[in-house]
Amino acid sequence: MADKYCVFGNPIGHSKSPIIQAAFARQTGQDIEYRAILAPSDGFADAVDAFIAEGGKGANVTLPFKQEAYQLATRLTQRAEQAGAVNTLVFNDNEVVGDNTDGVGLLRDITITLNYPIRDKRILLLGAGGAARGVLGPLLGEHPESLVIANRTEVRARSLAAHFAPIGPVSGCGYGELAGRAFDIVINATSASLSGSMPALPNGIFAPGSLAYKMMYGLGDTPFRIFAREQGAGMISEGLGMLLEQAAESFFVWRGVRPDCAPVVELLQKKA
Ligand code: ATR
Repeated sequence: MADKYCVFGNPIGHSKSPIIQAAFARQTGQDIEYRAILAPSDGFADAVDAFIAEGGKGANVTLPFKQEAYQLATRLTQRAEQAGAVNTLVFNDNEVVGDNTDGVGLLRDITITLNYPIRDKRILLLGAGGAARGVLGPLLGEHPESLVIANRTEVRARSLAAHFAPIGPVSGCGYGELAGRAFDIVINATSASLSGSMPALPNGIFAPGSLAYKMMYGLGDTPFRIFAREQGAGMISEGLGMLLEQAAESFFVWRGVRPDCAPVVELLQKKA
């Protein structure tokens, strides 16, 4: 019988994870079954228990349950601990392991697929919520020259920067303070695109040849993408690579086999 996996979220109808994981399973010859489960907003723990009871081996966790999954895990990996959030669960006999593959997914996409080294680069991270926090440790681990967190609610940016300051050269500010500064990598970790908007960014933040990266995957012309193009960013990514790489890392955590993301890009673009 196939081993069972799933993704928990609310909403979950839009999730590409079942298509991606099924493609990985076909490619690697692994016998798994993977489905999307809509957990009630106040019923995440019960949904996890029910899935374990039916023999579930592991799960992905998406919005809004990543912090709850962090609380629910009986053991955390170091990268989940640092991110303060869990997107991957492993159900062993006597424990629930919480892991986080978002940061490594972003890094692999930027440094390997896009071939854009992070070392000695000036990074601007937009947003100071869970998505931003999840990638800060891995980004600082690549030794950028500097990393500025900018957020609409400035105090959140400053306190997140203070939390990560022992790891690397990070500071926090509001969007207005970015005027007159340029960056090599600008990562949008805000949820602004979900409401069709973008942070209030000043002109001139994209250095020549810079990379504009949107973490919340969505094809098409979002305001951030249009702004980045108009402002002369050298390369623009809408986050599909990160979505695939974090999924591949979860698959690797569960099955010990690393799938190749490249063939799945085409599959998703055909379905989009
Ligand atoms: P997540 O876990 O997805 O990061 P979150 O913790 O709610 O969710 O954080 C959302 C982020 O997007 C925050 O940085 C938020 O800015 P505030 O801290 O000021 O709320 C940012 N965000 C959401 N909508 C935005 C908008 N329209 N303009 C600018 N920033 C926005």
